[in-house]
Amino acid sequence: MDSSLPEKITLRPGYPDFYDLPWDYPLTEWMDHCDYLEEVPRGLSRHPVNFINYSGIIYAIKEMPPGLAKTEYDQLITMERKRLPVVTAVGFAATDTSAGKRSVLITRFLDRSLPYRSLFMRRSLMRYRDHLLDAVAGLMVQIHLAGVYWGDCSLSNTLFRRDAGALQAYLVDAETVEIYPGILTPTMRLHDLEIMEENVDGGLADLGTANLIMDGVPIDDTGASIRIRYQNLWEEITRQVIINPDEKYRIQERIQVLNSLGFSIGEVLLEPSDAGDSLQFQVVVTDRNFHRDQLLGLTGIEAEEMQARKMMNEIHEHKATLSKSHNRSTPLSLVAYHWMEEIYSPTLDAMGSRIDQYSDPAELYCQILEHKWYLSEKAKHDVGHQYAVEDFLKTIDQK
Ligand SMILES: Nc1ncnc2c1ncn2[C@@H]1O[C@H](COP(=O)(O)OP(=O)(O)OP(=O)(O)O)[C@@H](O)[C@H]1O
Ligand SMILES: [Mg+2]
Repeated sequence: MDSSLPEKITLRPGYPDFYDLPWDYPLTEWMDHCDYLEEVPRGLSRHPVNFINYSGIIYAIKEMPPGLAKTEYDQLITMERKRLPVVTAVGFAATDTSAGKRSVLITRFLDRSLPYRSLFMRRSLMRYRDHLLDAVAGLMVQIHLAGVYWGDCSLSNTLFRRDAGALQAYLVDAETVEIYPGILTPTMRLHDLEIMEENVDGGLADLGTANLIMDGVPIDDTGASIRIRYQNLWEEITRQVIINPDEKYRIQERIQVLNSLGFSIGEVLLEPSDAGDSLQFQVVVTDRNFHRDQLLGLTGIEAEEMQARKMMNEIHEHKATLSKSHNRSTPLSLVAYHWMEEIYSPTLDAMGSRIDQYSDPAELYCQILEHKWYLSEKAKHDVGHQYAVEDFLKTIDQK
């Protein structure tokens, strides 16, 4: 294995120094000079991207013309600070290779993520199609609310993580990103959607031509379908509501609807409407981490938003049960502790050594909950977690 120092490397703390990589060679030639290379499922790209494995942690290394890696690194960091779902930037380097000067972006490989190609090419994943379209629409809404113009939204530039049966989309390619203060203007949002439609339909048409799409998977109008989902969600989040002065409870109702969609609320703008005696209000959302933040704060469990919503619902149910049996109200923090000790951990422990097959305990727990719901519906009573895990294990064995 060859190693050489890059001309200059900037790294965030807590990562390896990457000094033992063959920086003198362009990425396309690392195959013969580097033992850390790893094969992973990936999307299409113009630039060479290598994946390297350092003690079980995988990093993506992307090679670009000089200077570009720093720009993309800066954009990723700014988006991370805005709490958007993006890959984690680790560092960037300037290199002087046998093929000329280059810049290199290092990101942490997004664990448990699937590129869209696997979702469209494998029949077993057909059921994710709808979720995939919702996830891309949701990601665009999230970034536009935060003032981010993507400029190159495509299925290849998005990664998908399972999220309680649905999917959460992550932005992986930030090369064309522009970041503005406040919400993105309608003109820029429209432009971004047009690029998305063209890229998505073009990408799927290419897969179709190459005969890589399973028969029966509908691909026409996929871009348009994402745009419609985007518009519906945008309208839901940003609309202004007119109420009578004695209907202020409707503000609380609206906050609850937005929270249930995962959005956290920054502030409520309230003013007299033009008509005079009524009020007009708008709820301003900050990010889409409402349940994730709650769950993390109460239990320390890191989960995706939908997973967290399922678990928080269960914690609230548990609160009702505890309060009833003790005949007094129990604080949520205490309920969450009980839930972890008496429900969450024992349920995962009951998986025994089989848990090693699953890389994402939060997703596994949500699958077991789903299974419990299904069994309870059939039995017409709550079958309990223990029974649900036992039956879940039997079901996997039969597959
Ligand atoms: N951190 C990461 N985690 C997981 N996969 C990654 C990561 N970084 C890159 N990839 C994979 O590598 C592919 C190419 O990366 P990227 O889109 O950044 O390259 P690109 O050359 O800029 O693409 P384009 O042709 O769109 O400009 C992605 O589609 C993705 O599948
Ligand atoms: Mg790309």
